[in-house]
Amino acid sequence: MLIRLSNGKEIPIEMHKVRIVQKTSLPPIAQRRRAIEAAGFNTFLLRSRDVFLDMLTDSGTNAMSDNQLASMMVSDDAYAGGESFYRLADAVREVFGFEYTMPVHQGRAAEHLLAKAFVKPGDVVPMNYHFTTTRAHIELAGGTVLELFEDEALQTASSNPFKGNISLTKLRDVIARYGVEKIPYIRMEATTNLLGGQPFSLDNLRQVKDVAAGHNIPVVYDGSLIAENAYFVRQREAGYGSKSIAEIILEILSYVDIFYMSGRKCANVRGGLIATNQRALYDALLPWLPVYEGFATYGGMSSKEIEAMAVGLREMTELDGASAAADFVKYFVERLDANGVPVVTPAGGLACHVDARKFLPHLPSLEYPAGALAAAIYLASGVRCMERGTISMDRDRDGHEIPSDLELARLAVPRRVYTMSHIEYTVDRLTWLYKNRHLVQGLKFVSEPPVLRFFFGRLAPLEGWDARLAEAFQAEFGPDL
Ligand SMILES: Cc1ncc(COP(=O)(O)O)c(C=O)c1O
Repeated sequence: MLIRLSNGKEIPIEMHKVRIVQKTSLPPIAQRRRAIEAAGFNTFLLRSRDVFLDMLTDSGTNAMSDNQLASMMVSDDAYAGGESFYRLADAVREVFGFEYTMPVHQGRAAEHLLAKAFVKPGDVVPMNYHFTTTRAHIELAGGTVLELFEDEALQTASSNPFKGNISLTKLRDVIARYGVEKIPYIRMEATTNLLGGQPFSLDNLRQVKDVAAGHNIPVVYDGSLIAENAYFVRQREAGYGSKSIAEIILEILSYVDIFYMSGRKCANVRGGLIATNQRALYDALLPWLPVYEGFATYGGMSSKEIEAMAVGLREMTELDGASAAADFVKYFVERLDANGVPVVTPAGGLACHVDARKFLPHLPSLEYPAGALAAAIYLASGVRCMERGTISMDRDRDGHEIPSDLELARLAVPRRVYTMSHIEYTVDRLTWLYKNRHLVQGLKFVSEPPVLRFFFGRLAPLEGWDARLAEAFQAEFGPDL
């Protein structure tokens, strides 16, 4: 929740008490340099013992509530027909309004099943924007992703409240060009992870549904951050300011044929699900569930996580749950913006995104500015963030690089994990780094996996810039920080 202080300043305030803590430590600069080198300048390959604040992702890293933990104690570990599943299905009915629920082990498993069941070679899947795993599954099934965002989506500094909207003109054109039989579904992602967590409006979704329904094309909704998208609708869309998050979620999903989500984000667990009201769609997906995930009543999740997910779904519909990350992200973004550090505005869900093209304008896309910035942020702070740029784009089928639309270093804000002083520390070190940005040079691949290369790829710094950055840091802060 945002609270106004007596001096007029607004701050995000934690609407919870911390009862269990986990120690963290700040490895000094020399250790950080050794660690990032050992990790091939890829923050995914750092060990968490070398990380001070882990802002790699908000996925599976959120603090669970006491009620979630308590629910885990009463889980029913049956292979088939477990009661935990029926409690989850009740929560899905209540929170999302869907009759049929399929648990899966995490969001990408849902994407795999959807691609397996519905995408044929030669198909195209229109969407507001891709997510890495979404694209990989659609392409592995022989399909092509078509991103139909409005042009402003790529302007990182903006006041457009709904940069996640799909362009309806582009959508109509694509349907006319490819024909309905080549379009298994239209996908909307809430909030658009790779565009800086930007939401779409309910009005946009309503119109997407109109177009889709006119051609009998199902609307698939990736609701991994549905609570945040609903929170932004409440804050930013006329007519929704007095509605509850629960009401907005139900209205959103009234325009959706198939819903899926990673439960690792706003539901604060580790798992995922697919849900629908249409028996035919459910029947098309169900046979694949035990092949790739597990039986229909656990789908690869532990029964404990299934129980906690049922609780988490209800908790994310509370205003304090839906705003837990978003309000911190807003504060984080506005503090950096005030210090002149180029960030994606307006603030979105999940993370504070730094525009690496503006931060490191001397680096071309193929020297991976977002990857270099992520490594430099770790060196300057011990904070681990994630590259979301050209490294996160795999090569095309002919082996050519695909420069990313955006080059972002993403500092995720796991829900209820970090405090204001953690954010202030990170803002300070990023501001220092910005002043010393000329020291940061690019990266080159040393070993490059063929798919989702950002996970395991190893890189090296061009011109040994890490040594110069570490020296400058040490000159300013000494060897112990
Ligand atoms: C929008 C979106 N869809 C799908 C996924 C994949 O989910 P998971 O990481 O649970 O496989 C993610 C994960 O970050 C995501 O942000």
